[in-house]
Amino acid sequence: MFMIKINELDLNNQRVLIRVDFNVPMSAGKIISDMRLKASLPTIEMALKKNAKVIIMSHFGRPSEGKFDNKFSLLPIVKYLQNKLLNKNVFLIQNYLDGIQVNVGEVAVLENVRFNKGEEKNNELLAKKYASLCDVFVMDAFGVAHRSHASTCGLAKFAKVSCIGPLFYNEIKVLNKVMKDPKRPLVAILGGSKISTKLNLLYSISKISDAVIVGGGIANTFLAINNQVGKSLYEPKFIDSAKILLSKYNIQIPIDLRVGTEYSEKTLVTTKKITNVLCNEMIMDFGDETIASLIALLKKSKTILWNGPIGVFELSKFRKGTEMIAKTIANSSAFSIAGGGDTLAAIELFGIKDSISYISTGGGAFLKFIEGKTLPIISILKKHKIISL
Ligand code: 3PG
Repeated sequence: MFMIKINELDLNNQRVLIRVDFNVPMSAGKIISDMRLKASLPTIEMALKKNAKVIIMSHFGRPSEGKFDNKFSLLPIVKYLQNKLLNKNVFLIQNYLDGIQVNVGEVAVLENVRFNKGEEKNNELLAKKYASLCDVFVMDAFGVAHRSHASTCGLAKFAKVSCIGPLFYNEIKVLNKVMKDPKRPLVAILGGSKISTKLNLLYSISKISDAVIVGGGIANTFLAINNQVGKSLYEPKFIDSAKILLSKYNIQIPIDLRVGTEYSEKTLVTTKKITNVLCNEMIMDFGDETIASLIALLKKSKTILWNGPIGVFELSKFRKGTEMIAKTIANSSAFSIAGGGDTLAAIELFGIKDSISYISTGGGAFLKFIEGKTLPIISILKKHKIISL
């Protein structure tokens, strides 16, 4: 694997534009998780250490293109970066397309790129304007690697010099290793509500894994092949695909379940065999027998790939499956890799962030990568000989 990395370049006195993914969860102007910000710090610090004029750019949320909207401003992130993470002056630049002034040792953040018309359509003129702001472009936003936007693919095409940052490098290196040469047995956990959104992923993961544990609505669709699933979330249209997967691969489906009659903390929890679900019941977690057998399976694995919860972990009564699996992964000596929004929320809830070997900063990008899709930015970087995998 060859890559032109930021640490190999002379950045002295250079305008270094780092594309990061600062699309962090936020509520009422407050940052809920700073994981993505912290993950970008080594790149920013490296550029500062190398005497660069540091310029950061990111998207945030999904504002309507072409106009400023305070709700999607990067200002709260800039303040957080300045006061909590970098402890130095960080300034936000609102209007930057016609040129900016940044000095060596300074950190400037360009306002949300998604306010710019043409960003999401990868407009060439816009990408050229971005490119004119820098001497070196650093692609470090793995989280947005599945989008072909002006601040990613366009910029990589037109920048005088492009390279990749440590965050991007690590993501590609770790995910590539797990996909191509994992330590075996490799056990994958794929949870979440819909099989339809993860069907291709399920096929590609099943092909490379020694066992796949399915959870949530995905598991329910497998159960629905031969069982009544009552009011549970499942997708009848995908039962045939589930049948094919089950006949070809080692897919682990539950043997017992926790059910309730409504999605509420108040509902009465009953544990039962998969054959006994009533028409007014909803499957919301696995039962103890299933949990025990999955724990035993995970204990034997050498690599664990985790995306998506097992049950409705938002409700404490139906948290056990996800919690026990999460804690088993955390205590395991296997190489564990996790990604995706719900998975990260579970990891934070159970306080096991430091016990997972690798947490991807990507949501959609992580899923696309492990599905085996070529990410657009990777194609561009390959074409321009910045990386070769
Ligand atoms: C993410 O959160 O997955 C990335 O930042 C990409 O965001 P998007 O789905 O709005 O493009």
